[in-house]
Amino acid sequence: MAVGRSWSYAVAILASLAVVSCAQTDDPCKAKSRVVADDKYCDKYWECENGQAVQYDCPNGLVFAGKHRGVTEGCDYPWRSNYCEYPKVQINPPIGTEHCDWLYGIFGHETSCTRYWTCWNGTATEQLCIGGLLYNENAHSCDWPENVDGCQKHPLCNEDPNGNVPLGKSCNRYWQCQGGYPRLQRCPAMLVFDRRSLRCVVPPTDECEIPTTTLSPQEEEENSRPGQQQKRPEYPDGQPGRQRARN
Ligand SMILES: *[C@@H]1O[C@H](CO)[C@@H](O)[C@H](O)[C@H]1NC(C)=O
Repeated sequence: MAVGRSWSYAVAILASLAVVSCAQTDDPCKAKSRVVADDKYCDKYWECENGQAVQYDCPNGLVFAGKHRGVTEGCDYPWRSNYCEYPKVQINPPIGTEHCDWLYGIFGHETSCTRYWTCWNGTATEQLCIGGLLYNENAHSCDWPENVDGCQKHPLCNEDPNGNVPLGKSCNRYWQCQGGYPRLQRCPAMLVFDRRSLRCVVPPTDECEIPTTTLSPQEEEENSRPGQQQKRPEYPDGQPGRQRARN
């Protein structure tokens, strides 16, 4: 009968839809790139080797991004894109080392808002945010303090959150605190920073002569150590810059 026939036809279509919706991962040997994402786990992928599909794990902490994409082996930091959307999950547990939550990734510092860690195969490298920037956990990069919630303010500015602070023995550079965050400043040409009034003034002062020559690079280096939190500030033009994590 016609009705029975069309009914069984509908069942057959439904059955094939069901097969499609819980289908296995695509066959990498049929893919042009010969590499495909796993359909359940974002940290796994399949490669075609000698006509066989072989499953691989991304390096710990990374998820599959696509052949020749990501930071290594076709894998990337999960937060860099929508690689791992529901219902896909990251299945491998984190392997932590000192400072690294996963073997690969970018992680906040335990004690400092101006530093962070980049981890590559479990080896942590300490990175520094320069120019008064702070590490932003959400962006995984250095950012303006106003974008970094809950971070401690810089100890340089403890005394006066909006005051100026001398920078070592420097006669023309100083820290300007803005809401507790320091920004490196340079006095206008021919003025020197006066440690008593905490302003740029016409020299001479007790400590600073009329500027004649610029400091040697070594003196400049000696003078630019502000304290425990920012060890190595480099401000080529005396202005805070924006440094983004390289990875
Ligand atoms: C990662 O480090 C381990 C030892 O800690 C080493 O055996 C392995 O070869 C390294 N892997 C890569 C990709 O560098």
